[in-house]
Order: sequence, then structure tokens, then C-alpha cells
Amino acid sequence: MPQSIRLDPTILVIFGAGGDLAWRKLIPALYNLGLDKLLPERFAIVGVGRRPLPVADFRVRLRQGIEQFSRRPLANEELWRRFADNFCYVSEDLADHASGEALAACLAEIESAWGHRANRVYYLAVPPGVMAPAAAMLQRLGVCRDCIHDRLVIEKPFGRDLDSARELNGFLGGLFAEAQIYRIDHYLGKETVQNILAFRFANSLFEPIWNRRYIDHVQITVAETVGIGDRGDYYDQAGALRDMVQNHLLQILCLVAMEPPISFDADEIRNKKVDVLRAIRPLAAGEIHRAAVRGQYRKGQVLGEAVPGYRQERKVSPESTTETYVALMLHIDNWRWQGVPFYLRTGKRLPAKVSEVNIIFRSPPHQFFPSAAVESWQQNRIVIRIQPEEGIGTRIQVKQPGTRLLLGTADMQFRYREAFKAPAPEAYETLLLDVIRGDATLFMRADQVESAWQVVSPILEAWEAVPPADFPDYPAGSWGPEAAELMPARQGHNWLQPSEPEEE
Ligand code: BG6
Repeated sequence: MPQSIRLDPTILVIFGAGGDLAWRKLIPALYNLGLDKLLPERFAIVGVGRRPLPVADFRVRLRQGIEQFSRRPLANEELWRRFADNFCYVSEDLADHASGEALAACLAEIESAWGHRANRVYYLAVPPGVMAPAAAMLQRLGVCRDCIHDRLVIEKPFGRDLDSARELNGFLGGLFAEAQIYRIDHYLGKETVQNILAFRFANSLFEPIWNRRYIDHVQITVAETVGIGDRGDYYDQAGALRDMVQNHLLQILCLVAMEPPISFDADEIRNKKVDVLRAIRPLAAGEIHRAAVRGQYRKGQVLGEAVPGYRQERKVSPESTTETYVALMLHIDNWRWQGVPFYLRTGKRLPAKVSEVNIIFRSPPHQFFPSAAVESWQQNRIVIRIQPEEGIGTRIQVKQPGTRLLLGTADMQFRYREAFKAPAPEAYETLLLDVIRGDATLFMRADQVESAWQVVSPILEAWEAVPPADFPDYPAGSWGPEAAELMPARQGHNWLQPSEPEEE
């Protein structure tokens, strides 16, 4: 958790304040920051929504969000009252080109009560189609002009392909400075994702072997047991490639594969990540069927419960060809990684919620143990567990106790929960605090987002051109379609089933 430092007075304006994200994630995260006394002394939250809502009702809804989703319970009434006193709510119709008066008046009122201008953070927690009108309104009102003190936070999805991302970047770039724009990928706020940097570059032990000479291949798995809940209208237009791979999985890949930065400067770290994205070998049309697998779940059993198929989910077309599972094999064309396959997979309704990175090392160059001794031999492996049970493990070979020489595998484990007693903050706590402090290291720059779209674009195009003939092709509760197993198998590799999967 960051040290408490004195922060400038700040107004956080949340567009889409009535929506799920504010309710489940943003407000509980802010509440927890408040509990840790990490918010600025002068801090106000202005909710912006389309429908008129008395501020008292707004507060009730946010309180319910904290009660249901906060990692720590509401401590006491006095604390809640102090926190809730900071809330205001204004209703604005963004489709109306003359809108914005209520918001401007609210900002002016808060600042006049404080007696000075505050930092302003505008959080666009709205569907992609509403981002441009919201940004245009801020520009029109002139309330987001200061490059240092006014900031804009944008939730994913950032565009739905390379062209629309470029268009949105171009539009926002015409209104605001790049330094004002904070594009969120909440995976970058997760402790273990950030720890990849520390693990790689704060230890001299691993970096010398972190390359093609020693690493055989890398697997990145982000598996979910959940389906798509009530988000069918969004998800059916997006699919797993846009929803998870273009952002979360590629960001993890960047951290695993990037070169050492020369400083902890936000741009330096982002430059190194962009280098990775630019070095990913574009998939040629002829190899997409071998290097990219998609799937869709049918009904099945997850964690002992019967669940419907994707096409039976709410707000999903019964003939939908949207993928709920993706597996990819990517190569990074640079000195460090030439010839090392990176396998990525993600899916909904898989048997466990688990996100992990497996680094699999090459076999020793010469094997001299008697063959009977090495029957259960395995390649060395480093497992970076992102969730749940965050930590890092190393799998090594050891001699099994006994009079015969028999090798066995043993794991050395570091678990956050055991090593550090303090609970880790939620990703949104870290990210919101960073925006308030003006630190953009964990946010995506325009070129990063576009480079990531460039990686997935050939796949999107190929898949859109030829709809899948065999959907749905994996039962809910399985590890995905058969074709996904074959992909690494062709290179002599297997997906490693995550260790000790746990229930959500
Ligand atoms: C979101 C996706 O970005 O990440 C969701 O839109 C997905 O579909 C979620 O469920 C997963 O996040 P987490 O933090 O639960 O792993």
C-alpha cells in the first residue's frame, strides 16, 4: 500500500455513476482508500448519470455497493457519514449538445466552498458510444483544460478494432493532452501483475536466465468460472479476444517479456512494453487456424452447478458466433525471445477461476541419471500466480528420500498471504490512487493500445470472414475446445493445468 502523502484537493467526477462499475468497484475502492486515510483531505465525488436522482438515493445505492462488494465491511456509521458527505449527483443528458450546466455549477460550488481550484479527475465509466460525447462536453465546458491538474480516465474497451481505437485516440488527442488521458486496464493494478516487474528486475537471480537460452516456452492462462452475467449485450458484440486478450493478457505478456527499463519513469516503462507489442510476429492469414483457436461454451456443470450454454444467456443471440474462449500461440521477434512460443488462453465457464503465468525452462543439456530414476522428471518451472492465492512458485527436481536414486519434483512457494499479513488492495484502489496522484505508469498510452489492436487485428479479421461451423464446442466446466489442446501439442508442449485451483 502506498505511503500516505499529502494530496491536492480533488474532485472525482464519475460519468456512468449509476452503472455497475461504479457500484461494484469504484465506490468500494474509494471507501477502502478512505479507510486507509489515503484520499486527499479535501475530496468530493460527483456522480453524473442520465436519469435524475435525489442525492440521498444515490448515497443509498452506493452504500449497498460497499456493503456487498467492499473487501472490508462498513466500519461504523460515523465513518460512512463522513465518506457519504463527499457525494453529489447531477443528471446530464450527454446526447443533448447543450448539456453540462449542472455539472459546471456543481464543480464551481465545491471549489468556491473550498476557496480554491481543485484537481479534477473525470472518470468515463460509460459504454464506448458515450465516451466521445462525454469528452466533448468537458471540452465545451472548459473544465478539463489544465494539462497537469485535470485528468480523464477511460475504461476499456478502448475501441473495438484498430481503426476505431485510432479514431477515438485521434478525437481525444484533439481535445486533451496525452498526459491527461489515463486508459485503464485493471489487470495492471493487480498486486501480482505489478510484482512481475519487481520479481524480474529487483532480483539478480532470474534475469540472466530470462531468455531463449534457458526458457523453453511461456504459458499465460486467465480462466474464469463465471459466464457473462447480465452483460450479454456488450459481450456478444465483443467476445473473448476483444474483452480479455487485447488488453489483460497482452499486458501480462508485456511485463513478462519486456527489456529492463532504465528508470521507473512512466513513459520509459510504457516504451519498453510497446517494444514487446511491436515485436510480436503478425500472424499470417494461412497460419491463423493453427495459432489461434476460438471456442464457445455449451451447457454444462461448473463448480458442481448446472449452467446454461452461452447461446441461452440473457441478451445473447441464440445463433451467436461470439467466442467465449481463445487460445493463441505468439512469437516475439527479438534477440531475447526468438524461437520461444508464448501460449495465451482465456475463457469463460472453465473449471476454475485462476490466472497464472508459467515459465517453462529447457531440459538440462545432458541427462545422465539412470532412466528408472527420472520417470517422473519434469522441466523446471516458475509459476507466477496472479489470482487467487497470489504468489510465485518454482518447481525443481530433487532426490526422493530413500536408498535408491529416484528423482521427484518439489515446489518452493512464496504466498503473499503468508509472507505479508496485510491484505492487498484491490486493483481499482491502486489505480484510482495513482490517477489522483497523477502517476500514469500503470495506464496505457495511445500507442500501446493501438499496438495491442495491431496484434489481434489479423485474427479478428480472419474470424469475422469465416464464422465458426462447430459452435458451441466446449461444455461449460471443461478446459475449452479440443483444438486448443492440439495447438501446443503440435510443438511438443501441453497446457499445464493450474495448480490447486480454488473455488471463487
Ligand atoms: C473484465 C472483463 O475486463 O475483466 C470481464 O470485461 C472479466 O469479462 C473481468 O470477467 C475479469 O477480471 P478479474 O479481475 O475478475 O480477473
